[in-house]
Amino acid sequence: MIGFQCYRVDLGDRSYDIRICPGSLDGLGAAIALLLPSAKRCLVVSNAVVAPLYMARVRASLEAAGWQVIALILADGEQSKTLANWSRILDCLMAHKLSRNEPVVALGGGVIGDMAGFAAASYRRGLPLVQVPTTLLSQVDSSVGGKTAVNHPDGKNMIGAFYQPRLVWIDSEVLATLAPRQLRAGLAEVIKYGLIRDGAFFSRLQELMPGLLTLDSAAIAEVIHSSCRHKAEVVMRDECESGERALLNFGHTFGHAIESLAGYGTFLHGEAVAIGMRMATRLSHQMGLIDASYEQRVLEALTVAELPSAVPKFAPEAWLDAMGNDKKNLGSGLRLVLLRAIGDARIVDSVGADAITRLVASYDDPR
Ligand code: NAD
Ligand code: GLY
Repeated sequence: MIGFQCYRVDLGDRSYDIRICPGSLDGLGAAIALLLPSAKRCLVVSNAVVAPLYMARVRASLEAAGWQVIALILADGEQSKTLANWSRILDCLMAHKLSRNEPVVALGGGVIGDMAGFAAASYRRGLPLVQVPTTLLSQVDSSVGGKTAVNHPDGKNMIGAFYQPRLVWIDSEVLATLAPRQLRAGLAEVIKYGLIRDGAFFSRLQELMPGLLTLDSAAIAEVIHSSCRHKAEVVMRDECESGERALLNFGHTFGHAIESLAGYGTFLHGEAVAIGMRMATRLSHQMGLIDASYEQRVLEALTVAELPSAVPKFAPEAWLDAMGNDKKNLGSGLRLVLLRAIGDARIVDSVGADAITRLVASYDDPR
């Protein structure tokens, strides 16, 4: 049995712990009771896939620690990350008249975490939020750092707030029930940390990957801890993304374009980011930052993680449009994250439409 690993996100009066331990779901109630000794009730928000798997255990743990539990179960999936569901959480908080010290517990992947987080940020101008992430993506990325949001019909994550949790409680054993495709999608964000800020971690991932794909507990624990440390270090330096935090968007501008052009649901977010990281690496070469061999190294890492890497074909204008490079800002160009080395990335402003057109055209060439 591997013990608790803990990482402190130091943000002054918004500081919190990330606690990582296989099997720790049963200790959640006692941990929140220690954190919020004067509160009696909590709202657990989950979805129709995760709740049947884990709500009973979470409820039992909370009740054993003296909590009165209110549960709200929403529909599954990205299409449920809406203002209407956010409003349902608020309705529930209102109906039970939760007071300002009573926490919201987000039990699920990034969709539940982001949406319940935004409700916690909004109700009475802020309730304590506890993130209990249940996908690899949410355990290595979305539960840490305080980005909360819902989607608007015209744009993903367009309505939200920066709102830090009071605790992130990670039980890696819950990954056992996660679909393998979802697990692999989470690995894309893990590879991202290696590419943008830690070359040694990138190399180490090649050794760990077989264990990660088969949920070896030591490999999973190492990767969750390293990823949370990377995410936390960036967030501690730039909580509200006025600079360095934008590095975490490596591959994401291409990835978001792929998700939207292929039709939401065709690619999982992590899969689209994987392809986007490949494209950003080639662009880094075309812009003279690295040599051509880097794309092959990225491709190898994606292949070992069993992630897709083939760049889908869309018209150059469609890419430009989807990447936000419409006529209005064509003059100023795009802000993208590019590679300077494995483990070193930089933000580049004013990438022109010509560079994007040349990049996407280069994937038409037989290779
Ligand atoms: P998700 O929450 O939709 O979860 C993926 C699928 O796995 C869902 O069907 C879910 O019900 C299911 N699931 C979750 N845990 C499970 C378990 N243990 N066993 C079985 N099934 C389980 O998607 P995600 O990949 O976790 O998160 C994607 C979301 O996160 C997107 O909305 C994205 O915008 C957001 N995100 C936010 C941040 C941030 O910093 N806040 C960062 C990255 C992504
Ligand atoms: N996932 C990007 C960020 O948290 O900033």
